[in-house]
Amino acid sequence: MAGKMSNGIPIWLTLLLLFALSSSACAAARLTLSEIPTSSSVEFIRSSCIKTDYPALCFNSLSVYAPTIQTSPKQLVDAALSVSLESTRNTSEKIGTLSKTRGMSSKEAEAMSDCMESLGDSVEELKQSLQAMKDLRGKDVKLHMNDIQTWVSAALTEENTCMDGFTTNGFKDGADNLVRSHIVKVAHLTSNALALINAMAGSL
Ligand SMILES: *[C@@H]1O[C@H](CO)[C@@H](O)[C@H](O)[C@H]1NC(C)=O
Repeated sequence: MAGKMSNGIPIWLTLLLLFALSSSACAAARLTLSEIPTSSSVEFIRSSCIKTDYPALCFNSLSVYAPTIQTSPKQLVDAALSVSLESTRNTSEKIGTLSKTRGMSSKEAEAMSDCMESLGDSVEELKQSLQAMKDLRGKDVKLHMNDIQTWVSAALTEENTCMDGFTTNGFKDGADNLVRSHIVKVAHLTSNALALINAMAGSL
């Protein structure tokens, strides 16, 4: 019978349960019932994301790329790196705008400028990694994956360094909280990308 598995449990119920189990742990999940995984690609993204530290963010940021990702670990990593890169660039831009706010103390201005420098390095490392993913073929694949792991890990360190500048100071107008919320998301996206890269490297 269409829509039923052989043991009589409707497929929609199975998917609903899988979905509920995977997303209930994270309040950040913004999925609705209409987004219940239906294709093998979405299922591939979901099951890959479960192994990252921030599975809901991972799934929410990558599932829109399902048509490109299909079930390719390489395309999945490409998408994760691209999202992380774009998000890092955006955040750097936002901090740049914020840092032009008048009335910042010199300490605040310094934290902003240090952070933008760290994010700039992070952007370069993520770009380098994306480029290396393009050249990933032949007998040096493992070596290149190793480089990519190193660069993305360095990018994550830069993002955490940026965050450190905003953990203790109470900034005027809550600018530190604003910056921190953006950086936390960027760092989580990069952490997820690294986890997906590590999974891909482990399967080679
Ligand atoms: C980056 O900013 C652009 C322009 O504001 C926006 O369209 C895009 O969705 C943002 N990307 C991410 C990953 O936040």
